[in-house]
Amino acid sequence: MCGIVGYIGNEQAAPILLDGLEKLEYRGYDSAGLAVYDGTDIRVMKATGRLKVLSELSHGGAMLPGCAGIGHTRWATHGMPSDTNAHPHFNKDESIVVVHNGIIENYLKLKKLLETRGYQFVSQTDTEVVAHLLDYYYQGDPMEAIVKVMQRVEGSYALGILFKDHPEEMYAVRKDSPLIVGKCAHGSIIASDVPAVLKYTRDVFFIQNEEIVRLEKENIAFFNIDKEEIQKESTRIEWDVNAAEKGGYEHFMLKEINEQPKAVRDTLNPRIKDGRIVIEELGMTPEEVAAIRKIYVVACGSAYHTGVTAKYVFEGLARIPVEVDLASEFRYRNPILDEGTMVIIVSQSGETADSLAALREAKKHPGVRVLGIVNVVGSSIAREADHVMYTWAGPEIAVATTKAYSTQLIAFYLLAIRFAQDRGKLSEAEAGNLIKELQRLPEQIEMLLANKERIQRFANRYVAAREIFFIGRGIDYAISLEGSLKLKEISYIHSEAYAAGELKHGTISLIEEGTLVTALLTQEDLYKKMISNIVEVQTRGAFVLAVTNVGNTEIEKASDYVIYIPKTNPYFTNSLAVIPLQIFSYYVAIGKGCDVDKPRNLAKSVTVE
Ligand code: G6P
Repeated sequence: MCGIVGYIGNEQAAPILLDGLEKLEYRGYDSAGLAVYDGTDIRVMKATGRLKVLSELSHGGAMLPGCAGIGHTRWATHGMPSDTNAHPHFNKDESIVVVHNGIIENYLKLKKLLETRGYQFVSQTDTEVVAHLLDYYYQGDPMEAIVKVMQRVEGSYALGILFKDHPEEMYAVRKDSPLIVGKCAHGSIIASDVPAVLKYTRDVFFIQNEEIVRLEKENIAFFNIDKEEIQKESTRIEWDVNAAEKGGYEHFMLKEINEQPKAVRDTLNPRIKDGRIVIEELGMTPEEVAAIRKIYVVACGSAYHTGVTAKYVFEGLARIPVEVDLASEFRYRNPILDEGTMVIIVSQSGETADSLAALREAKKHPGVRVLGIVNVVGSSIAREADHVMYTWAGPEIAVATTKAYSTQLIAFYLLAIRFAQDRGKLSEAEAGNLIKELQRLPEQIEMLLANKERIQRFANRYVAAREIFFIGRGIDYAISLEGSLKLKEISYIHSEAYAAGELKHGTISLIEEGTLVTALLTQEDLYKKMISNIVEVQTRGAFVLAVTNVGNTEIEKASDYVIYIPKTNPYFTNSLAVIPLQIFSYYVAIGKGCDVDKPRNLAKSVTVE
């Protein structure tokens, strides 16, 4: 979702802004713009569509000379994607310019008020309200105007601001939308996320809610809402710069699919010591774990799907009741949050607006523990949760998650085994066997990846499919949900996932001659039930792709195409079965010529409701 980059220093700003925005392309956007102070005026250029349109228009930034500027990629919320609605937005005499990520929820009220005071709006955006409101309050002191605006606006924002009569300064502020700041040899920089600044610095400051930053060429100062200067510690980013580059792969998604063995190993290995699970960062005693009466797993998108799997694993191993909720539902449904409840918020970005709001809702209730399973270090969810367990997937750039999803599953398996032991539901020996199975997963994923050509060939046959169904029971239902989402989000083919037992209650009427049904059969105890469901769809003309455990060869009689996954414990099959489904989706989307890394209308980090 919207990307912000700002620079003030000795170098030309526009090329740095374009380069930074390119690193944030993964967030999803539909238009882009730049504002640069040229020594006399602030000049703006905007373009609908991809960043390369803006880059060509501005001749790689050369048309916008100057050493202070802000840039933006916009993911439309208020007002369609257009040059007018693209950021940056000016005040009336073009002396203040603003880029914004987030939503100003009371913008209509503020807009009316400003209109009665003579302000005219040119765009349909909520952001323009900020530019005019800054103008309204500005009396020569930028900080004063910013604080007054912060007191009037409701909603979420990360803002980059330039004031023409303070040309040596750039301002930034945030509430509930991410923003980081970095200092490099030749200047100071702001951005929505780390990849945009990595080329210039590895030491970044994570801006907290309602903190204001004043950036100058040589200096960065932080203030609270009372305009008092505050001290902040920087965080060293340890990633390899190449981790955020394609590294020879055609797409980030393919690179990230292939990084899964490493991501899984990195998440698993540090938590296994002498054959036992040690989750130091959890900071809970076995007695505290034993006192948990109920778990809610709350998340969005694919992270929610890992929660659906976790329900089966936690309930099966640790015998703790688990409810899985979509964060957007949980936050408004007044859930029962008693003493003894644990709420697990799962998020790759750690910034998803609904997941963050759900976390805050949970934290209002005394006696409730909130655990964040998060990939981005220092993100809002990581900071605000009572306990954090990091997934060590590294930076994930493709909008459709693959390696973060796989590491979230690992985090859940580790927690479930540890909780089961702490609650006396699993012996040392049983836990030891499960751990051994977990340690084999990276190698088994490698085996599946080595076989991708066969899936690629199969995918090529389904490039023209109108719809594709996924069915499964138990954990296989959870895998189906993810397989279906992956396919539809990147290939735009309509797809549904169903608990196979539900087929007869409606879905089966959609099956026609040749409809592809992907059937998941990794749960041996449900195998026979699944065969019956497969026969039912086949009888009605479906073409059945079965994904099952190696050795289940009799499935070849009941289906049209089979993909085998290596044998593992039934609780862990999701980690293997999802791999061919990711590869299938990827190649169907490639076959259709889709932009797999940046699917239309989608954003990587959904920082608005
Ligand atoms: C977006 C992404 C998904 C992701 C979901 C939740 O929709 O495209 O891949 O699963 O957000 O994001 P989070 O960062 O909270 O895991």
